Amino acid sequence: MKLWGARMRAPLNPLVEKLNASLPIDIRLFREDIDGSLAWTHGLQRAGILSTDEARRIRDGLEKVRAEFVTGSFAVLASDEDIHTAVERRLTELSGDVGGKLHTGRSRNDQVATDFRLWIMRGCDSLDWELRTLQSALLDSAEAALEAPFPGYTHTQRAQPITWGHWAMSHFWPLERDRGRLKDARRSAGILPLGSGALSGVVFAIDRHALGKELGFHSVSASSLDGVRDRDFAVEFLFASALTGVHLSQIAEQLILYSTSEFGFVVIDDSYTTGSSLMPQKKNPDPLELARGKSGRLIGGLVGLLTTLKGLPSAYDKDLQEDKQPVFEAFDTLSLLIPVMTGLISTIHLQTDRMLAALSPEMFATDLADYLVAKGIPFRQAHALVGMAVRRAEEQGIPLASLSLDELRMISGEFGEDVTRVFDLQAAINRRRAIGGTAGEALFRQLRSARSLLLA
Ligand code: ARG
Repeated sequence: MKLWGARMRAPLNPLVEKLNASLPIDIRLFREDIDGSLAWTHGLQRAGILSTDEARRIRDGLEKVRAEFVTGSFAVLASDEDIHTAVERRLTELSGDVGGKLHTGRSRNDQVATDFRLWIMRGCDSLDWELRTLQSALLDSAEAALEAPFPGYTHTQRAQPITWGHWAMSHFWPLERDRGRLKDARRSAGILPLGSGALSGVVFAIDRHALGKELGFHSVSASSLDGVRDRDFAVEFLFASALTGVHLSQIAEQLILYSTSEFGFVVIDDSYTTGSSLMPQKKNPDPLELARGKSGRLIGGLVGLLTTLKGLPSAYDKDLQEDKQPVFEAFDTLSLLIPVMTGLISTIHLQTDRMLAALSPEMFATDLADYLVAKGIPFRQAHALVGMAVRRAEEQGIPLASLSLDELRMISGEFGEDVTRVFDLQAAINRRRAIGGTAGEALFRQLRSARSLLLA
């Protein structure tokens, strides 16, 4: 019989039983469910509801149930509705009637919210570690080829010269922000709902602060009605995950492009590429394409939960049972994807000659305008003058740097002998000295602050 079956005249329709059951998904909460029940047992004991001996028997029983889950010997029954009823059913089988006292003053509504929050807090810690490792791989990659120049792109068009160090570090910072968002989601999850009852609170003298402290929560929910409904933390977790997925997809797309024969800037290690079943020569960047593709599902999970929550009436509604699947899926996706990206980046081979060869003199056009600015010409005018120079070179079918000084002087009398300096690659890179720029000193500064963040 169901825990709630006493008032029913007919057994539950088997299809409804199947629809209702969440155990296949929420079985992953067994640790958190047992931790929550251990703390609740403590709380009931402190409130004088359980004797010391009863509390001890319940705790022993719960540890036995935990051991069954850990060793894989827990036998699921078809009638087990969810993790909470399964644990309580088994506890009562192992410990006898005293098991029936555990649920005093508690509802599955505050129980599931507590379990889920605990799980997400642990999930945030684990993803934080994975992201940190990926950041560290990016830092190492940046340091290994700090000054290797290649084109920086905007609109996928050659724009200005950058270095591999500068490129790799540009992907460090989004991940740093992702870690910040996960930390915020963890903090939102760290508010204890246990002690909210079904919706209106608990009549027994439960010290909710002590309960929260025991479980690692930083505070307790202020309203029981809000406490059982609030899933903001799950939305925040999904948002942090979705945006992390978006960032991974951006790294992936760039590396896919850079690894094509057309670009040829990088070669992805064979251990991170797959072959084609038909074309023997193919080497496909599948892990990167999957990183790009999986971001779609991560975004879908976020939108799905927001849609479930929209317009939800008061307190707990069974709709809320749909909250776990997207969270578990996001966690599993990132837990696999992030270490794959870490490995792929750590083993990538740079083709520095191809990177260098892709730089063309037109990429110094801004520097040429800046040269005129240094001679006192307003930037807007300098931009137009260099635009004319670019057009002239294009008409003659020669690179911008090959225009003779005479031709340049026909465009502006301010061009002088020293104009050749503009086309010096290293000088152009090192001219961008302001914080965040390509210059060696700016890059060192970036690396220093990144390193200290990772050590913190
Ligand atoms: N399996 C449910 C969930 O995940 C647990 C809470 C059920 N509460 C209830 N009143 N039926 O949301």
